[in-house]
Amino acid sequence: MQIQKIFENNKKWVENKLSEDEYYFKNLAKGQYPEVLFIGCSDSRVTAESLMGAVPGEIFVYRNIANMVSNLDVSAMSVINYAVLYLKVKHIIVAGHYECGGVKAAMESKDYGILNPWLRNIRDVYRLHRIELNNVENEQAKYNKLVELNVREQCINVLKIAAVQKVYRKGELKIHGWVWDIHTGKLIDLAIDFDSILTDIREIYHLD
Ligand code: CO
Repeated sequence: MQIQKIFENNKKWVENKLSEDEYYFKNLAKGQYPEVLFIGCSDSRVTAESLMGAVPGEIFVYRNIANMVSNLDVSAMSVINYAVLYLKVKHIIVAGHYECGGVKAAMESKDYGILNPWLRNIRDVYRLHRIELNNVENEQAKYNKLVELNVREQCINVLKIAAVQKVYRKGELKIHGWVWDIHTGKLIDLAIDFDSILTDIREIYHLD
């Protein structure tokens, strides 16, 4: 994609928006009130807003390689805390996707240099679920399973955050673990039972 083309596209988009509503950008500039925080992969094919049919102002977005929620990632922690405490979002979605390059890389015995610390978090997910994963013989099925288990573990990482626990227990916030099936374009809800997970992990992680 050429950079010049991006500016041409932008000009057309602005004209299109203004033809529908001359106050569109004036209203957009007044503030944001999204009810959803979407944590997804940086993958160029995972276009958060368009696959959800969302428009500007509806979704607070954070994306990184393999949709990770790392305790040491100041950016992720800032996004989540800001979304919960100030934007008061009602939903946090962690969405993985099949054919995720980050998850694939973590499954390989290979030195990825500066990427190693990041991929280590995914390898930790593999270790946590090693027995289940090693029982899957088909390599593609194992890869898909790790994508799903990684979503589950990143949702649990969201649940470990004090501000999240506080609003979650009051029933003001819901957490959702999804996988986007790149082969069909469809979103899959992993239907994770976070109430029982929180009960289970509170012995170790409870903060409020
Ligand atoms: Co990915």
